[in-house]
Parts: sequence; C-alpha cells; structure tokens
Amino acid sequence: MTIQHVGIIGAGTMGNGIAQACAVAGLPVTMVDISDAAVNKGLATIAGSLDRLIKKDKLTTAEKDAALARISTSTDYAALAGADIVIEAATENFDLKVKILKQLEGVAKADAILASNTSSISITKLAAIVANPSQFIGMHFFNPVPLMALVEIIRGLQTSDETHARVEALARQLGKSPITVKNAPGFVVNRILVPMINEAFFVLAENLATPEEIDEGMKLGCNHPIGPLALADMIGLDVCLSVMNVFYEEFEDSKYRACPLLKEMVAAGYLGRKTGRGVYTY
Ligand SMILES: NC(=O)c1ccc[n+]([C@@H]2O[C@H](COP(=O)([O-])OP(=O)(O)OC[C@H]3O[C@@H](n4cnc5c(N)ncnc54)[C@H](O)[C@@H]3O)[C@@H](O)[C@H]2O)c1
Repeated sequence: MTIQHVGIIGAGTMGNGIAQACAVAGLPVTMVDISDAAVNKGLATIAGSLDRLIKKDKLTTAEKDAALARISTSTDYAALAGADIVIEAATENFDLKVKILKQLEGVAKADAILASNTSSISITKLAAIVANPSQFIGMHFFNPVPLMALVEIIRGLQTSDETHARVEALARQLGKSPITVKNAPGFVVNRILVPMINEAFFVLAENLATPEEIDEGMKLGCNHPIGPLALADMIGLDVCLSVMNVFYEEFEDSKYRACPLLKEMVAAGYLGRKTGRGVYTY
C-alpha cells in the first residue's frame, strides 16, 4: 500500500519543509497548526522557497503552482482523517507530543502510520502512547528539508517491518536517501556530530588554536563543508548544550559531559547567529 496522502502537524521550520518536499514530489498534503497565523506563515515560507528554486532553474512556475495546489491547511485535526501517514513536526516537547498523539486517536484512519520528526525524544517511548505502536516510527528530516538529502528512519522497539517498508518507500518517493536507525538518544547523525562540536569547544577552551584555525583544520583536513564552531553558531549553542545534556543523562556516561566553555557562552546569551554573537560575531 503506497502512501497517497500525507498529513503534517506543525507548519514551522520542519513542518513546512516536509510539506513542500511532499507537494513537489506530487503527493497531496494536509498541514495543520494551532492558528491561522502559523499556517499562513508556513505557506508563505513554502511559496518563498519555491520561488528561490525557480530562480535557480530547478522548478518551473507551473510546477510551483501545482505543488501549492496540492497543499491544504487547517487548524482542525479532523482535516487529517484522509491521511495514510501523519508526520508530527510540532514543537520539541514531550508532553505536547503526547497530547497531539492522543488527539490524533479517533481522527486518523485505523491503518494510518504515525511518524514523529523529533530530534531527541525516544521513538519507543512515543510509540508506547499510541493505540497501534507497530504503526509508529521516527522520520527525522534535516534542515532545510527541501535541500537536505538525508532522512533518518528510526525504528522503535515496537515498529513493524511493514510500517518501516512503507516509510522507506515514502522517503525515496520524496527524492531522499534514507538510512534506518534503531532508537537511541540522538539516533546516528547527532550522536556523532554534537559530541564532535562539544570537543571543538574543549579544544578552543584549552587555547590549542584560534576558532578560525580549528574550523579551517576540520574543513581542510576532513573535507567538512563547514567547521564545527561555525556550525555550532548556525545550530545554536543552546541547542548543542541541551543535546549534550540529554546524552549525559540518558547514557549515564561522563564522556558526554558538556564543555564548561559551551555552558558559559550559553549562560552569557552568546547563542550563535540567532543572537548576533556566538563563537563568531555576526
Ligand atoms: N529545526 C531543526 O533544525 C530540526 C531538525 C530536525 C528535527 N527537528 C524537530 O522537528 C520538530 C519541529 O521543529 P521546528 O524547528 O519545525 O519547530 P518550529 O518552532 O519552527 O515549529 C513548530 C510548530 O509547531 C506548532 N505547534 C505547536 N503545538 C502544536 C499543536 N498542538 N498542534 C499543531 N501544531 C503545533 C507551532 O505553532 C509551530 O508552528 C521538533 O520535534 C524538532 O525537534 C527540528
């Protein structure tokens, strides 16, 4: 059974990106958020992103219009009744996600797959909340969704092979390259990436090299497109710190202790690009 209609909860950064990827791939999408303002902001972001693709000759105006016509929006969960999969991309908060999953019960089709785009919450724990845990899975897209090729598909302990196969097929239909991961804190990419960034802060704190030299070293020596400290500024130092804290608590392993300099900078409000100052000044 291929997926014919995608429901999305949340029209923010990730929700609107996922909606755009689905609509461009030819799938009807229903995007739900809590207010008309949030839904309209999501739609405007999609229109702007499609316009940029037209400027780069990656899309025609007709394709843009067709993609936008495939997206319907609502502030009512009942609009998700026809979806074969509902991808939850709401704010990262466990209690909120529990509330949303409970609200979906009785609305979504009995055989609908429920997926979460969470970055840090256990898929196994979320699956335990829903009526059909075998139909629950993690679908972790990367930002910006229309440009990033990877989707981490996370199998909870309860996820069935059929659910996994249908979601993997959907990811490929969206033109993405999925990898399948067992549920664990940070999944695979953030598990490796964020401790590397944390280590870059230790190197900086020990004055082994300047920020520019640390970033240059990783770019030229490892072929990374961006250095770890510049990347921390893009992600947000507060986000990096909170991921390290999750690893430290969940694995109960001191190797995940956050660098004191990272903590100090977050305490100072030097959060990166979003505050105009992080490791670098913007
Ligand atoms: N931003 C990233 O780089 C990134 C990358 C991968 C995964 N994620 C994950 O994606 C999810 C969304 O993150 P984001 O960056 O898009 O956040 P965001 O703040 O941009 O958007 C969240 C949206 O959820 C909406 N929302 C809140 N409560 C809701 C409810 N009850 N029903 C419907 N909508 C509701 C908000 O109004 C908002 O529009 C999080 O779980 C996050 O961990 C984020």
